[in-house]
Amino acid sequence: MKRDFLTLKDLTPAELTAVVHRASELKKTSFNSATTELLRSRAIVLIFEKSSTRTRVSFEVACAQFGGSSIFLSPGDSQMSRGESISDTAQIVSRMADLIVMRTGAHTRLETMAEHSAVPVINALSDDFHPCQLLADLQTFNEHRGDIRDAKIAFVGDGSSNVCHSWINASSMMQFSITVGTPPQYHPKPEIASAAGARYKVTDNVSEAVKDADLVITDTWAGMGQEKEKAERLALLSAFQVNTEVMDSAAPDAIFMHCLPAYRGQEVTADVIDGPKSVVFDEAENRLHAQKALIELLMS
Ligand code: CP
Ligand code: NVA
Repeated sequence: MKRDFLTLKDLTPAELTAVVHRASELKKTSFNSATTELLRSRAIVLIFEKSSTRTRVSFEVACAQFGGSSIFLSPGDSQMSRGESISDTAQIVSRMADLIVMRTGAHTRLETMAEHSAVPVINALSDDFHPCQLLADLQTFNEHRGDIRDAKIAFVGDGSSNVCHSWINASSMMQFSITVGTPPQYHPKPEIASAAGARYKVTDNVSEAVKDADLVITDTWAGMGQEKEKAERLALLSAFQVNTEVMDSAAPDAIFMHCLPAYRGQEVTADVIDGPKSVVFDEAENRLHAQKALIELLMS
C-alpha cells in the first residue's frame, strides 16, 4: 500500500520522531553505501507549479545521493498547463515513475494527485501546508536545543501561512506549545488551530507571543500567489517584524528560524537573521537530510 505525505499528520508521532532522528544520522553519512542504492533504477518526478530553490535542489540532490533519477516539470513544461487533468497526469506519471513530489496552490490539487497516483505523493508546499519544511525545522531544533517536547515556540508574522499551519500541526504531534503573534486578519485557519487544543494560542501582542520562547519563527509576509495583496499585507503586518527587541523578549538562549526566502527589513531585520541566534542556514541544509529520511520511510 503506497503512502503519501501531504501533511505532517500522514505520519504517526513516532514516525515523525524517527524521521527527525534519522535525518541527523544521514547528515553524518551522506554517502553511506547502505543508502546509495535506495533509488537505483528508480525515478522521481517533481511537478512544481510555483517557484523553488531549496525544495527543488534538496529533492534532486537527495535522489542523486540515493542513486536515482529526477525529472523536473516546471509550470510551462507539462501538459497540465494546457488543461490535462491532475487525475490523468497522476495515473500516467505513476505508471512510469516511483515517487511524485508536487508543489502547488490549492491543497485539494495535491489530494487529487494522491488519490489518482499509484505511487507516493509528497507535498512540496501548498497554500495550506509545508510539511517538508517542518521535518527540517524539527531536526534543526533538535540539533540546536534538544528535545522539543514541552518547549515554547513563537510564530510571529503571517499566522495564515503554510509554514505556520504546519508548525501548529507539529505542536500536538510533538507536544510543545505554540503561540502565534499575528493581527486578526491573519489568524491561522480555525480547523487547523482547533486541532492543536490547549497547546495553541493566538495574540496580536508580539511581546506576549515571544515571552520565554525557546524558538522564534517567521515567514514572508506575502507568500507565492499573494503578490497582489503585498501592499496591504506589509501595512497590516508591519508591527509583527522580528527584530532585536522582539528576540530580546524571548528566552535568553532563544534561536531564530525562517524557511527562506527572507525579505530583510520586512518580516525580519538583517541583524536578527544574520546574527548569532539565527539557524536559518542549518535549517535550509537540513531540508536535504530530512527529505532523505522521509524518502527512506516512504520508499523502503
Ligand atoms: N523554504 C522553501 O521551501 O524554499 P523554496 O521555496 O526555495 O523551495
Ligand atoms: N509561505 C511561503 C513559503 C515559501 C517557502 C510561501 O508560500 O510562499
